[in-house]
Amino acid sequence: MSELAAKELEEAASRYAAEAIRADSQGSYGTAINLYQKAISTLMRLVQLYPEYKLNQIYLQRAMTYQERIKALQSARGLLPAEGGQVESYKSGSSTSPMVETLKASFDDLVVKEKPDVRIDEVVGLEDAKKALKEAIIFPYKRPDLFPLGWPRGILLYGPPGCGKTMLAAATAAEIDGYFMTVDAASIMSKWLGEAERNVAKLFETARKLSEQGQPVLIFIDEVDSLLGVRNQEVGGEIRVRNQFLKEMDGILDKGHKRPVYVLAATNKPWQLDTPFLRRFEKRIYVALPDTSARRYMFEQYTKPLRLDENVSLTELARLSENYSGSDIKDICQAVQLRVVSELFDGGGALDPNAKPRPITMSDFKEVLRTRKPSVPKEALKAFITWSENYKAL
Ligand SMILES: Nc1ncnc2c1ncn2[C@@H]1O[C@H](COP(=O)(O)OP(=O)(O)OP(=O)(O)O)[C@@H](O)[C@H]1O
Ligand SMILES: [Mg+2]
Repeated sequence: MSELAAKELEEAASRYAAEAIRADSQGSYGTAINLYQKAISTLMRLVQLYPEYKLNQIYLQRAMTYQERIKALQSARGLLPAEGGQVESYKSGSSTSPMVETLKASFDDLVVKEKPDVRIDEVVGLEDAKKALKEAIIFPYKRPDLFPLGWPRGILLYGPPGCGKTMLAAATAAEIDGYFMTVDAASIMSKWLGEAERNVAKLFETARKLSEQGQPVLIFIDEVDSLLGVRNQEVGGEIRVRNQFLKEMDGILDKGHKRPVYVLAATNKPWQLDTPFLRRFEKRIYVALPDTSARRYMFEQYTKPLRLDENVSLTELARLSENYSGSDIKDICQAVQLRVVSELFDGGGALDPNAKPRPITMSDFKEVLRTRKPSVPKEALKAFITWSENYKAL
């Protein structure tokens, strides 16, 4: 998606909402209604244009809150026109305001505390990464007595998109039985969720409280580069957030390794992280593109439910898909299935509920591979390898 367009819409919505709340608290209810409506329609447009966007749930929730406020204002105006709309007055920023309450609830909602349902052996390949995560998290969790010198608390997973960083983090969390808190940095930074610094502080505070019950807590921050995106650094807000984050990390690292709190972070733009930030991540693990044997295994897994022609060679597919990511391979397998299903629909055959598409052939795969290039360009790959040579810490 075009991040820029989304950002602009988000900012416009945020402006309308802020103005609406101001008008509302000053008693200019007509203006407030107008502005709330603008905020709502901008938010709805955002949701329609970017149906996959992670904050959509928040946008919808927010739009609903504005809608309710409009209703309250309208009915008050309708019922009591003489008094110029007596409604429960609304003070922006006051702790009792219902909208501020929604705001708090929303950030908590974004911090997912459920255990993910994925096992570490479902992650294909990446043996180095799996080993490092076991040593850094799973072993110390199971036998803390064997680690008198402590163990790393900050672990960074970096690498090109679609290679299993998020999946690895989820699988690690599933291995330990404790608390798992996951949040993506873009959400922390969103204007919609209040002060980003406070969100960071709150995240760590919750983790500390949970860990006091003796259970380990794993915080997973996805797309951590957003916390200190270089291109945003002039703004100032980001610097405060970054400093808050560093302070919180020190809080975990300093306490004589007593609190079982781990921070696992992922990024596909590691070069945007600065040295003080990297220093807090004692382990830095490269999550690379799958090698030939990993690709073969992925093709095998993803084609298991599909009907393949005898001429399909998984070994050949693995050879043809160099530089494709795990997520690309999944998409390719989806695309070949779609080809045969489309044929069935186009030929009218799908009307018969028992009709099956023809088996997928090697040339279906070749055609899809030809039209679908790897999502990680070669130059980008070089950048990862260079960065890795300088900063890897297994
Ligand atoms: N090594 C792998 N083993 C198994 N499946 C994989 C692997 N890599 C990618 N996949 C598949 O691709 C999907 C996307 O992977 P994931 O979300 O973990 O990538 P990521 O590295 O976090 O990417 P991004 O940087 O874009 O967030 C996974 O849900 C999985 O289906
Ligand atoms: Mg990810």
